[in-house]
Amino acid sequence: MARKGIILAGGSGTRLYPLTLATSKQLMPVYDKPMIYYPLATLMDAGIREVLVITTPRDNEAFKNLLGDGKKWGMRIEYKVQEKPNGLAEAFIIGEEFIGNDNVVLILGDNLFYGESLKEILERSNARTEESTIFGYHVDDPRRYGVVEIDESGKAVSIEEKPEEPKSEYAVPGLYFYTNDVVRIAKTITPSERGELEITSVNEEYMKAKKLHVEKLGRGIAWFDTGTHDALIETTQFVQTIEKRQGMQICCPDEIAFENGWISSEELKQLAEPFMKTNYGKFLKRLADGEI
Ligand code: DAU
Repeated sequence: MARKGIILAGGSGTRLYPLTLATSKQLMPVYDKPMIYYPLATLMDAGIREVLVITTPRDNEAFKNLLGDGKKWGMRIEYKVQEKPNGLAEAFIIGEEFIGNDNVVLILGDNLFYGESLKEILERSNARTEESTIFGYHVDDPRRYGVVEIDESGKAVSIEEKPEEPKSEYAVPGLYFYTNDVVRIAKTITPSERGELEITSVNEEYMKAKKLHVEKLGRGIAWFDTGTHDALIETTQFVQTIEKRQGMQICCPDEIAFENGWISSEELKQLAEPFMKTNYGKFLKRLADGEI
């Protein structure tokens, strides 16, 4: 069974005002790439070729202009609108037709993942088709996130959304691998006090049904959500530091499409062509020429 991918790139972006008064948060630059490239690259690393991008009504066109129909990367990219920020779990209701009978992975459009062992973890999670997978990441201030408590066997014991008194220091990042029944589950949950269909409520249902696997992401993996001014610049600095030091790219869709065998070296060269004034383009050219 194939797995489809959804990037949720709507929301009000109010925590980034005035940056997001006229444009989408997920189009903001994170160093040398638009923010949405990063979660897209993560889906591609998981081997996912069919992606639905969900945006606000205002920004839908801009995302289409940026990513197109996905053919340039050997993918299929579709678009839908979320009329109001009714919560993360609404993605599965909006995406019902797109998901069809397949399993699905949801990634938040402002989340960035990076690390040597990540691809392996993503592939493993993708292959786990009988239960759903979420992740636990040790953070300094778990109160800002969904928080998962994990027992010795690695099973989730509790999951809470932004608890005042967190039961663990493991935040749940915005990357969720679900079995197909997530569409049904999303339709049964009720909005929280803040009026949203919470992804945490979906995860609780899987936990109760003992169908939720939690993988810890270790220290070797970087996870950022870029939803505030400080987080945005910190993430940018992280990407800049690594890319400048290594002379390579982080979360580069063009590179991953090539590495995955979805496009040829000739096609990669053509993609690099208009970008030759940037390090991004030069990197792609070197890659296509077999110099990396
Ligand atoms: O980043 C991980 C966290 O994301 C998780 O730990 C939490 O469990 C989860 O609820 C979520 O928390 P946030 O408070 O950070 O979510 P936020 O409202 O900022 O939305 C996350 C992204 O999703 C953001 O880029 C905007 C987009 N969004 C949000 C909502 C509520 C939508 O596209 N539609 C929506 O309805």
